Amino acid sequence: MAVEFELLTAGPRVEELLALQQRYLRPSVIDPERGFLTWRCGESALRKIVAETPAAVAVNSGCVVGYIVVSTPQTASEDELFSPLIEHLRSLDAVADTSWLTLCQACVDYAFTGHGVLRALYSFLCDAYRARFAHGIGEISQLNRASLRAHLKLPRFRGHPKTGVSDAEKATTTAVLT
Ligand SMILES: CC(C)(COP(=O)(O)OP(=O)(O)OC[C@H]1O[C@@H](n2cnc3c(N)ncnc32)[C@H](O)[C@@H]1OP(=O)(O)O)[C@@H](O)C(=O)NCCC(=O)NCCS
Repeated sequence: MAVEFELLTAGPRVEELLALQQRYLRPSVIDPERGFLTWRCGESALRKIVAETPAAVAVNSGCVVGYIVVSTPQTASEDELFSPLIEHLRSLDAVADTSWLTLCQACVDYAFTGHGVLRALYSFLCDAYRARFAHGIGEISQLNRASLRAHLKLPRFRGHPKTGVSDAEKATTTAVLT
């Protein structure tokens, strides 16, 4: 299983990423026990995000099979899903004084899960961003047990469950990129 990693800034891969997102969105996802997505991003919003902060994508046989979308807090705060988290984090002295990225969404095609693709995507992402950002911070649904288990096994991740930032099913997970 040869998977290569790239930074996505523009072009037709944006549409490929959105097609992958569409397949794993709740409630249409086939098997929520293997993970699901909550954030639905429009094409123009995603193009704006990746132009500013390129996404990490995993590619197999020329197709996108996984990705991590990140954003600056300023751009993420324009999205109603992320704005409560951003507002809360900006109010914390410990966070406000650091440079940090919002972890918007991670996804790996079910056909490629369990082979370290998520781990490799984060490693690639960290290499690309550690010179500019000290941390990545995002939220994972408490109901997404597959994602929580996978993320909490990754190196440099710290989980902060039930922060109460958004609704009760969210957890905040912090990844230290340095
Ligand atoms: C959850 C998801 C991202 C995991 O991706 P993945 O490529 O399978 O993860 P990796 O293979 O890199 O695994 C990383 C670690 O998590 C573990 N892991 C992966 N999936 C797991 C699961 N469902 N249950 C328990 N552990 C899991 C792996 O065993 C590995 O740990 P190890 O090194 O000790 O063996 C992927 O299944 C997915 O995208 N699902 C659909 C969408 C989704 O839920 N996205 C996340 C939204 S927050």
